[in-house]
Amino acid sequence: MSNIDTTKLLEQIKELPAMPNVIVKALGIIKDDMSGTKELSDIMAYDQALTSQVLKLVNSAYYGFAQEITSVNKALALLGMTQTRNIIIAVAMKPMLTSQGGRDMWKHSLRCGVAAEYLAEKTGIVDTADAFTIGFLHDIGKILLNIADTMTYQKVRTMVKNGQDIIDAENEMFETNHADLGFLLAKKWKLSVLLANCIKYHHDPMSSSMSQVSTLAYLANKISHDEPDLFDEEMVKEQLGLEVSQIMTYRDEIQEKSNVLFSTLNA
Ligand SMILES: [Fe+2]
Ligand SMILES: [Fe+2]
Repeated sequence: MSNIDTTKLLEQIKELPAMPNVIVKALGIIKDDMSGTKELSDIMAYDQALTSQVLKLVNSAYYGFAQEITSVNKALALLGMTQTRNIIIAVAMKPMLTSQGGRDMWKHSLRCGVAAEYLAEKTGIVDTADAFTIGFLHDIGKILLNIADTMTYQKVRTMVKNGQDIIDAENEMFETNHADLGFLLAKKWKLSVLLANCIKYHHDPMSSSMSQVSTLAYLANKISHDEPDLFDEEMVKEQLGLEVSQIMTYRDEIQEKSNVLFSTLNA
């Protein structure tokens, strides 16, 4: 039933707009501890729009600093490198996410980043800064499907709205899905193995060799939709040690936190 030639679709990955340069650089810096905060502030010095967005965010209620932070260096000193990196990623990915998936995609990504970070903090199973990136980028494969055939992807959205599983719907219409494509994109973008793995398995965490952190990505996604999704409660309890009632409380807090981020970055 596919309207799309899978090989052709993979071809298009080559033509995909490269990962925003600033993110490549920001991620590169984190891999190399020694290069430090100076390089991060150098990156931003070349991008005024980014700098002003970052400062706006840093001064938002999300971080709640008492004094106004007016320079990137000050922000770096207060937030640390990884937090600053996360803000850069969120801001720099915005154009790509909104142009390919609209505001909903951007909002969902941001919320999932916050959710993953929050769950990482509560469970301690993965570094919180890594968790934000995992959550924020988990659905990047959707960008590819949308580029390949926007009309068909619109149909997939409708199928999902009518209750069909998203991976099933994508497989039916494209003979591939956003989890597998996201994995390819993650490799192309040279993201970490951890990140690529979570992107690939966020809908099927028990197939992952990193099942715990993949379950964290799975749960972060599930609780980041406007209407809470059903999730495998037993698996989540076993992998993350979290009860449903706890998770629902977390969800409320995550919503609140991410709404602050969203309105700040969206204004
Ligand atoms: Fe997904
Ligand atoms: Fe998602």
